[in-house]
Amino acid sequence: MKIVSLQAWEILDSRGNPTVAAACQLSTGVRARAHAPSGASTGMHEACELRDHDGGRYAGKGVRRAVHNVNEAIAKRLVGMRADEQWRLDQAMIDLDGTTNKSRLGANAILAVSCAVARAAAVQAGVPLWKWLAAGREAKLPVPMVNILSGGHHAGHNFEFQDFLAMPVDVAGYGDQLEAIVAVHRETRHLLDKAGYVLTGVADEGGWGPKLPANRMALDILSQAIDGCALEGRMKIALDVAASHFYKDGHYALPTENRSFDAAGMVGELEKLCDEYPVISIEDGLAEDDWSGWQMLTARLGQRVQLVGDDFFTTNIGRLNRGIAENCANAVLVKMNQIGTLTETFGVIDRAREAGYRAVISARSGETEDDFLADLATASGAGQIKVGSITRSERLAKYNRLFEIERELTSAA
Ligand code: PGA
Ligand code: ZN
Repeated sequence: MKIVSLQAWEILDSRGNPTVAAACQLSTGVRARAHAPSGASTGMHEACELRDHDGGRYAGKGVRRAVHNVNEAIAKRLVGMRADEQWRLDQAMIDLDGTTNKSRLGANAILAVSCAVARAAAVQAGVPLWKWLAAGREAKLPVPMVNILSGGHHAGHNFEFQDFLAMPVDVAGYGDQLEAIVAVHRETRHLLDKAGYVLTGVADEGGWGPKLPANRMALDILSQAIDGCALEGRMKIALDVAASHFYKDGHYALPTENRSFDAAGMVGELEKLCDEYPVISIEDGLAEDDWSGWQMLTARLGQRVQLVGDDFFTTNIGRLNRGIAENCANAVLVKMNQIGTLTETFGVIDRAREAGYRAVISARSGETEDDFLADLATASGAGQIKVGSITRSERLAKYNRLFEIERELTSAA
């Protein structure tokens, strides 16, 4: 199964920003495509998303250079290679790029190709994508961690913490889990309406984005919604604090609450929230380079709460290894475009497992209808997926693909 052609073109993501689509054609005639996603609350240490920066098109956000890199340099290098040797293809692109952050070719260009080739190879092999990707790992349907209330960069800075998510811990079966989450999303809307908050739409990931006077109010409302749906104890709360985005000069500033903390104060605040609400997971509770803060947080909460590094690890094995060595966090958020190839993504997932860290497979706030992530989450056996809320079709593409995978897993067993 040799690659005979690679092509890319510019498409739009769920925020109306350009992103890269790539298609891979094999000698057998099989053709498959994939899309690169795009973040808004990005980490400093992410691989480079190559944009044109010419103010004339899409406010500089065009991706014609990345598209060109696929159609020229990458195609020239990869055409003729076998599609079923993912690591070799990914390594060839890494070498061709030659930088540490993929800034020459663009992680958006490289990732779209990496995923398109994998999909073509799976089609050629006649197996579902998750099965192809699993390559011997134990595939498992993930539990969804679903955005219900949004803040920060995804909701016009209404308050500081970025995501308040619902996570079933004792609801059996994917269908029942989603049904319970939809009920909580609906009940949350009802509570917000009752309290007089005006909602005219949803935030970037489909959650509600009301202008609340304090971060903990989102926890009040979400826990009430869970209780209101009679799900107390069976549905818990996950937070994505995304603390890098309100950290400045050694301080975590919460202007909506007129409060500011140093690292120790922030750890204390998070501990209080865990004591008062059913919080079982905290992502980016501290800033991306606050290593000593992360150590403190992990020592204090690591035994009872999942502490996930997103901007902190940026799906980068070097940063994950340092975190493991220094007892920082106990889980990693996995976003393919933070690192740029499928091989490196699996490298991080496998390393996490080996070290006893958990992994959460995650979408970006800017997504497309591509449902690759559902297969990746299943293939990796990671056990958790985070792709936003249960509205907006770029989110539902993934949830709905999981319904299909559930059937495929049953018939495979
Ligand atoms: P992003 O946010 O895709 O906008 O970076 C998602 C997250 O922080 O988890
Ligand atoms: Zn995050």
